[in-house]
Amino acid sequence: MSYWTAPAGLFIGYGEPAHADTLAKLHAQGFYRGWPHEDFEAYLADPLQTPSYVALDNRRTPRGFAMLRIAGDECELLTIAVDKKLRGKGIGRALLAAAFADLRMTPVRSMFLEVDETNLGAIKLYKNMGFAEIATRKGYYSKPDGSAATALVMRANLG
Ligand SMILES: CC(C)(COP(=O)(O)OP(=O)(O)OC[C@H]1O[C@@H](n2cnc3c(N)ncnc32)[C@H](O)[C@@H]1OP(=O)(O)O)[C@@H](O)C(=O)NCCC(=O)NCCS
Repeated sequence: MSYWTAPAGLFIGYGEPAHADTLAKLHAQGFYRGWPHEDFEAYLADPLQTPSYVALDNRRTPRGFAMLRIAGDECELLTIAVDKKLRGKGIGRALLAAAFADLRMTPVRSMFLEVDETNLGAIKLYKNMGFAEIATRKGYYSKPDGSAATALVMRANLG
């Protein structure tokens, strides 16, 4: 097991089934449509297909995470979320950097993601990490007010 140090006294490790509850709560803080706890349990039980990186505090409680799905030489960033109280401290960047470093030791060569075009903070983070927009999907996200938002599809090469 490798660990990476992260800002705010956290460290980054791999997600485990025992983290399912906490990751579901962190996800619900960040997204209008939450994912059921059972989905997190299933993803965390299959780390080869859906690896996840967690930013742990000194009690080993996840305060942020990124979850991926591997498909051949590509992967998709399924979701990323950081505890509201700890945003803007570089934890999201550290989670992605850990995933990139890890994946460079595998056949995976690119990472894709979808992001709401109005989520400017996340888009800034992705651009800083080398992602570029490659497509848009209109009406992809349902909003609480009943409207639908466009998704940007972004890709980064892992080198
Ligand atoms: C998106 C998210 C994961 C970013 O995590 P974070 O730990 O706050 O991000 P970081 O502190 O690592 O930010 C890294 C870079 O992105 C930029 N950034 C991140 N959030 C930002 C925001 N809300 N506004 C402006 N810039 C932002 C920062 O400027 C920083 O760049 P810099 O180092 O050059 O200053 C976090 O805001 C979150 O959980 N949001 C809710 C869930 C979400 O929207 N997930 C993404 C969906 S695709």
